[in-house]
Parts: sequence; C-alpha cells; structure tokens
Amino acid sequence: MIRRVLERPCTLAMLIGFQFAFMMYFSFGGLRSLASIFGRSPEPSFDYSHTHDVYTNLTRIQATLHPGTLEGGLLPWCPEKSPYLVGPITVTFSQVPIFQRIQEKNRLVVRGGIYRPPNCESRHRTAVIIPHRNRETHLRHLLYYLHPFLQRQQLHYGIYIIHQAGNATFNRAKLLNVGVKEAMRDEDWDCLFLHDVDLIPENDHNLYVCDPWNPKHASVAMNKFSYSLPYPQYFGGVSALTPEQYMKMNGFPNEYWGWGGEDDDIATRVRLAGMKIARPPVSVGHYKMVKHKGDRGNEENPHRFDLLIRTQRMWTQDGMNSLTYTLLSKDLQPLYTNITVDIGGGPQVTEAIADARSHSSTVSASKQRDHQRVHQREAHCGCPVIPQLLHRSGQRQEGNPRHLKRSKKT
Ligand SMILES: *[C@@H]1O[C@H](CO)[C@@H](O)[C@H](O)[C@H]1NC(C)=O
Ligand SMILES: *[C@@H]1O[C@H](CO)[C@@H](O)[C@H](O)[C@H]1NC(C)=O
Ligand SMILES: *[C@@H]1O[C@H](CO)[C@@H](O)[C@H](O)[C@H]1NC(C)=O
Repeated sequence: MIRRVLERPCTLAMLIGFQFAFMMYFSFGGLRSLASIFGRSPEPSFDYSHTHDVYTNLTRIQATLHPGTLEGGLLPWCPEKSPYLVGPITVTFSQVPIFQRIQEKNRLVVRGGIYRPPNCESRHRTAVIIPHRNRETHLRHLLYYLHPFLQRQQLHYGIYIIHQAGNATFNRAKLLNVGVKEAMRDEDWDCLFLHDVDLIPENDHNLYVCDPWNPKHASVAMNKFSYSLPYPQYFGGVSALTPEQYMKMNGFPNEYWGWGGEDDDIATRVRLAGMKIARPPVSVGHYKMVKHKGDRGNEENPHRFDLLIRTQRMWTQDGMNSLTYTLLSKDLQPLYTNITVDIGGGPQVTEAIADARSHSSTVSASKQRDHQRVHQREAHCGCPVIPQLLHRSGQRQEGNPRHLKRSKKT
C-alpha cells in the first residue's frame, strides 16, 4: 500500500517538496527569522515625554477576580497581548518606598513574591533572579516598580533575591547560578530573568518573557549609556534565558569576583554554545539606573581581562556543572523570596584588591582600550576574541588567579 503510494510520481514530488519546505523552515530558525530576513518590522515608537504611573490599571486587574478562581475551576488562557499595557512609565527615585506600602499596593502578590493573574491562566512563567547585598534602598525601588510592571504583563512570576552572605568580594554571576538552581527547585519556570538590583524598566512593552531560540539581552538602552548599547556584545544589566538555553551554555562562570568582566564572558559563552544574542527594539528596552557610588566589597576585578581569555577553554568546566555553595536560609517574604547563600570567597580576594589599588590607573585604562578593541574587532568580523590583544600590556598576574595564594597574614 505504502509502496504503491510512493510510486505515484506526484505523491513523491509532494513529499520531496514538503521535506524541502521543512528544511528551509528549520535552517532559518523558523518563521520569525524568515520575517527578519525579508525586511525587519519597523521599530515601534514611544513618546517618553508622556509617561504613565507604574500603578496604572492595577486596580482594574485586582477587581477582575474570576469566579473560577474561587471554585478552583479552570481559567481561560490570558490573551496573547495583555490589554493592560501602557508603554512608557514614570520612574523617579525621590522617595524610597517602604516595604509595607509596596505590599499594600500589590495585594495579589503572595508570600515569596509570587503572582498569578486572577482572571486568566498566564501563558508564561517567569522567575526574576536578583543578586543582592547591602542594597536595600535599590531593592525597595525595584520592587515598587517591578511588581505592577509584571502584573500588567499578565505573567505568572516570582521574584528571588539571592543574598551573598559574609564579607568576601561580591560574585554576581555565581549568585545567578545559585538563583537559577534554587528557583527551579520551586517551580517549573519557563523563563529566567537575571536582573541587576539597580535597573528599573521604563516601558511595559518590554515583556519579561524569553525568546524561544536565543538568550535575550533586555537592558539595551540604559540612561547611563545615553539610551543605547555601549558596545555590540554588551550583555550586562538584565538578560533572559530559558532553562534549556541556560544549561546549554553551562550557565554563567563562577570565577568572577568583584565588578566587571563576567557579562563579557557570558556573551562569549552564548556564541560558543552556538547561540546568538536576541534583543528587544531599543525604543522598548529602556532602563533607568538608581544612582549610587561603587560599593565596598564589590571592587573592580583586576583579573577580569585575564579571565576572559580563559572563557574559550573553560566554559564547559566552569559553570552550572561545577557550582558549589551552601544554602543558609530561604525565607518567603511578602514581596520576594530571600535566598541567603555562602558561596565562599575568591582565592584572590584580599590580594587582588590591594593589588588593584597599587596599580596605576593608566594600566587599567590601557587594558580597557585593548578590551574595547577586541570588542570592535569581534563586532566587525564576527571572529572570536583574540587573546594576544589582551595580553599586550604585559602587566598581568602570573598564572591562573585560581591558584594565587592568599597573602593575608593571620
Ligand atoms: C489601561 O490604562 C490605559 C491608560 O489609562 C487605558 O487607556 C486602558 O484602557 C487601560 N486598559 C484596560 C484594560 O483597562
Ligand atoms: C564582616 O564585616 C563586619 C564589619 O567589618 C564584621 O562585623 C563581621 O563580623 C564580618 N563578618 C564575617 C562573616 O566575617
Ligand atoms: C535575607 O536574609 C538574610 C539572612 O536572614 C538577611 O541577613 C538579609 O538581610 C535578608 N535580605 C533581605 C533583602 O531581606
């Protein structure tokens, strides 16, 4: 029977035709990529001189308790596009809101900072993961804005604060690895938003959902960079990955202690794992940064340029598969889940900071220029980072920082 069907020439031709169509479809990564090949959709435009209060429409949402919710019945799916979005949002830092006030304004948020739309079943489950230490004012600003922002997007979401215990140098990337691991224990989140505590989104069309194909960099237009990308491979601030994408690149590196470098390592991992960086339109990805001075315990990482060189070699060994930490506590606060962890200390903690202070600033400036040159080169030809460029200033520490001995005397 099958043989007879296959022998008919037009059936065969049709099968081949279908196969060809499928191949085309998948080799271009689906319809969306096709659309982007044949003409990009025009950049949406927003009027940032007319902004809305971030709590606009929230009482409307709160009033729509679906009868099904109370009876435990099934809710209908939420619409594809939320009707509550308003676009640009007013963001000011003149007053630091107290937790209780934020709680009162977000009364559908339950313990642990978890929310589900009251009148429909969300299409997305997003965990927002925020590395944190000694930044409570920033956290209060962020929670004040983020909760209503996410509710207007009709997301099922949870907010996780990953608190680094102890006094060792801050390690943002490792805290994010911990956050992903702990958040996935709670719930089958389908999108992980990795979020700096001092960045407030300014447009609710910047949807906190993942791109199905590629890791997404969301904070493409920050006020501190005049609302544009500082360089093409920039991946700092706010990014979003599905759990599959996160595991595909072995998560983030664990070895970046102190400020800087880890975001470039992550951008390199994305490429090494065979993916690209997706981005929302610049007019949508607006963020405002809460002003602050560089804080203690998060000094610039003097090894950050040396570490970048090792990404290519190390990304399969340093990441989620080598993550170790001790969970100290997990409290469900009204507006967030507080996960407190001991992630150890960098081997270079004490020595590196002293070292960074004694080095002349010209050395780090010249390294930075090299670094930028690497980025420009990479953007230009799409080729991998050239390690020699980074080595040129010749002032680097000998050996792998992992093996540097502590110089602290006891
Ligand atoms: C949300 O607020 C905007 C601005 O006030 C309004 O135009 C829109 O109708 C509201 N949406 C819903 C679903 O009520
Ligand atoms: C951290 O530093 C503070 C103040 O310098 C000190 O009181 C505290 O004991 C230190 N904690 C640890 C775990 O070393
Ligand atoms: C999180 O919990 C730790 C340990 O109880 C505490 O020291 C820290 O202040 C908490 N952080 C926040 C933001 O609640």
